[in-house]
Amino acid sequence: MTRISLSPNGPEFSRLVYGTWRILDEAEKPTPEALLARFRACLDLGITTLDTAEIYGLYRVEEAIGQALKLDAGVRQKLEIVTKAGIYVPCDFHPDRKVAQYNATGARLVKSAEKSLRLLGIEQIDLFLVHRPDWLASADDTAEGLNKLLQEGKIRSAGVSNYNVHQFDLLNSRMTQPLVANQIEFSLLHMEPLFDGTLDQCQKNRIRPMAWSPLGGGRLFDPKLPASQRLHDKMRSISAKYGDATLEQLAHAWVLAHPSAPLSVIGTNRLDRLTSTARSDSIQLEREDWYGLWEAAQGNQIP
Ligand SMILES: NC(=O)c1ccc[n+]([C@@H]2O[C@H](COP(=O)([O-])OP(=O)(O)OC[C@H]3O[C@@H](n4cnc5c(N)ncnc54)[C@H](OP(=O)(O)O)[C@@H]3O)[C@@H](O)[C@H]2O)c1
Repeated sequence: MTRISLSPNGPEFSRLVYGTWRILDEAEKPTPEALLARFRACLDLGITTLDTAEIYGLYRVEEAIGQALKLDAGVRQKLEIVTKAGIYVPCDFHPDRKVAQYNATGARLVKSAEKSLRLLGIEQIDLFLVHRPDWLASADDTAEGLNKLLQEGKIRSAGVSNYNVHQFDLLNSRMTQPLVANQIEFSLLHMEPLFDGTLDQCQKNRIRPMAWSPLGGGRLFDPKLPASQRLHDKMRSISAKYGDATLEQLAHAWVLAHPSAPLSVIGTNRLDRLTSTARSDSIQLEREDWYGLWEAAQGNQIP
């Protein structure tokens, strides 16, 4: 598995990242032992980076990860952990909340990062992301929290998620250590970052985008979606050239091929799919096929 440095000063992550958003979504919740087995499977495949967030599983996923990691300290040592904070929604776990809101004030971020450390049972977060831009938090305030966490060593690096280029530039201008990542939605079914400058900004700043929902959150396999049908047809015509690659593998390879060198955040709960996805790292799409997939996804030729 290719290793990628998010910025000239690190941190270094696996190019495919295991995303934990959906890990408690199954009717039968995984036991800590089952989760640990999944993390070990990731490590066996060279996927050493875990992506999570305070809000995942309505605030229950970080604790589940922590319970699994507690079973084997050796596994934690081999993993890099990314988490995010800043989204607060009403739920059974927090009946006091009446309105869903973003909160990227410095004080809130510090409190959330400290909570994540406790729930995950770790000493340091490798990458801490502001989950969404908060329209009410000033850049000075957000940066103050991130800078404090960096200075105290509670987080090794800081970044953002779902920030547009202006929001990124503004917050970055207040940081004592530059932001190292913008985690954004990017896939064959969500190409806006190609057009809105987000990926160009990553190249300009020599940082890496992290692509979430690289399979469109599973929509790539929705037979009712015309783009999905066209992509399946395209996949059948080029698959043999890439060792009988599946649409899943080609979709990840399509994301990875962008010159900003994105990391792709995988979302499956199935070990067979995890194993198959790891092969995407070795698929290098030819220019014609990258554009062929672009065309199939968009339903038209490039302008
Ligand atoms: N920063 C953010 O705002 C943000 C937002 C969303 C997600 N994320 C991160 O990105 C990660 C990945 O997002 P995602 O889960 O949406 O990724 P994704 O890989 O686009 O979608 C995963 C979904 O696709 C399904 N799937 C995969 N292969 C399939 C196949 N061959 N046929 C049918 N269904 C298939 C999976 O089901 P199975 O489990 O059955 O395989 C799963 O439900 C998350 O875990 C999270 O860490 C970040």
